[in-house]
Amino acid sequence: MNKVAARIIGVGLGLLAVWGCTKKESPAQPTQEKAQWTIGMSQCNLGEPWRVQMNADIRQAAQEKGNLRVIFKDAQNDTLKQQAQVEEFISAGVDLIIISPKEAAPLTPVVAQAYAKGIPVIVLDRRVLGDQYTCFIGADNRKIGRAAGKWIASKLGGKGKIVELKGLMTSTPGQDRHAGFREGIEGTQLEIIFEADMKWLEPNARKEMESALARFPQIDLVYAHNDPGAHGAYLAAKAAGREKDILFVGIDALPQEGQAYVKQGILAASFEYPTGGREAVETAVKILSGQSVPKEIILDSRVFTPENIDQGGEWLGKEN
Ligand code: FRU
Repeated sequence: MNKVAARIIGVGLGLLAVWGCTKKESPAQPTQEKAQWTIGMSQCNLGEPWRVQMNADIRQAAQEKGNLRVIFKDAQNDTLKQQAQVEEFISAGVDLIIISPKEAAPLTPVVAQAYAKGIPVIVLDRRVLGDQYTCFIGADNRKIGRAAGKWIASKLGGKGKIVELKGLMTSTPGQDRHAGFREGIEGTQLEIIFEADMKWLEPNARKEMESALARFPQIDLVYAHNDPGAHGAYLAAKAAGREKDILFVGIDALPQEGQAYVKQGILAASFEYPTGGREAVETAVKILSGQSVPKEIILDSRVFTPENIDQGGEWLGKEN
């Protein structure tokens, strides 16, 4: 190795060492001695922008508190992995667990186990069964589904042919967004001509929509349980040259995803599903400092359409 190369490597290593030191001092992840409390966060996957945003919201809120250390684990959409993560948090003796569970039933026992051992558990976004946890935080998915149904009925003048692309039906938001939607369109002449479980994933939604397009010459609207699903359906329709004949409605409304699609004219509407990351950290600190918290914290949502997006959307009212 010549002298210049050795020097470059030397400087690089030096910089890495400095970076390592400053990183340890960063208030985002205080060292174990500095942090007053350690929180274990089990995220069901990081494949979708919405979950990346949830972790970012938690990280940011924890950083502002300054006395929290958060250990993030990504279950990569694998229920067994997520069960193991909670078990690891229990054995490591973390002070509190936040979990955004992939599925309700299979993650219920391990959450109950942590709770029974005296570790507070905040269940975020998707629910588990029963009540063996400290606090649930999330938006009202049934209400969002109902509001979407009513909005769609009014947009289509009470009749039309609909494709419903459902989220994972073993998860509670999928079940509630479906049930709420059916309530919202009750008594109308809207017809669900095709429904499929796309498990929250854009590539699955695209495939299912390809089947729907092949079978039905007329589709008026796609109701997808999340924005990646609505976008996947849009891409399939576009590839078939039919995207201008169909309206697409999704849920999540992240600024960089659903709201951007509405602005670009890809989605006719996106219903907000707040991540709850900030609220989870606020609630964690209350629990850890001995304050009581409600069993359920239900977050509000807005609907974004091309008409209202520049005014920041419109809150879902009580009539939903
Ligand atoms: C991300 C996601 C969101 C959806 C939420 C429901 O994994 O699919 O798009 O709103 O989960 O739990």
